[in-house]
Amino acid sequence: MAEQSTVTFVITRQDSPDASPYKETFEIPYKTNMNVISGLMEIQRNPVNADGENTSPVQWDMNCLEEVCGACSMVINGTARQSCAALVDDLEQPIHLEPMSTFPVIRDLFVDREQMFDALKQVKAWIPIDGTHDLGPGPRMPEKKRQWAYELSKCMSCGVCLEACPNVNDKSDFIGRACPQSAFVQCPSTGEMNASERLDGLMKMEASQAAANAQNCVQVCPKGIPLTTSIAAMNRATNIQAFKNFFGSDEAH
Ligand code: SF4
Ligand code: FES
Repeated sequence: MAEQSTVTFVITRQDSPDASPYKETFEIPYKTNMNVISGLMEIQRNPVNADGENTSPVQWDMNCLEEVCGACSMVINGTARQSCAALVDDLEQPIHLEPMSTFPVIRDLFVDREQMFDALKQVKAWIPIDGTHDLGPGPRMPEKKRQWAYELSKCMSCGVCLEACPNVNDKSDFIGRACPQSAFVQCPSTGEMNASERLDGLMKMEASQAAANAQNCVQVCPKGIPLTTSIAAMNRATNIQAFKNFFGSDEAH
């Protein structure tokens, strides 16, 4: 790559949740190995746009800075991904930054992912451990199941797969099912005790079987999670649960 002294960011900004979005361009000093977040930090330090006008500092969310928490996700040059893991040297310029469209914008690139976490609460995507510390080791898990659970456990609830999914829109509540955490907690032996309750929560959400065939989410997932396989597994499990509910039995696992 040719030597460069500045980096150009074109940022889609929004001053409040109800305000209209607009674009603002920034030229910032280039530094070796800089990532998108370090560029945003430079704008925050010196909020002057490419026309030399003072402006408000750009807002975004972040936490771990090592592609673990998912908070810094945004659309970078048209693809949703983590901005802490996006190296400027790997990006075509100007670098376009937009908030993810699946979630409401709080300000600029900062979105509200609460609806995804609410959906995960609805499907009880966790394993209760209160009162289990003195029960001793749980049953051994078959190696194949352990490997499957490990893959699903890598999910950081970043929401990038939802941005890519054609079945997620403002009329669908597919949002919780797309996240494989629900499948993950079904998997380990400790999670199976709440399986029926969790599947009932999943069934309350309208979900399209077609999603299992849409591969977009698999391609964008930064953790390489086999999403379509996990969604298909959840679809199978919810179908079995529907039969069990219909016949009033909780035995047919
Ligand atoms: S499955 Fe992948 S893309 Fe989707 S929320 Fe989890 S880590 Fe992010
Ligand atoms: S800040 Fe946590 S994934 Fe980027």
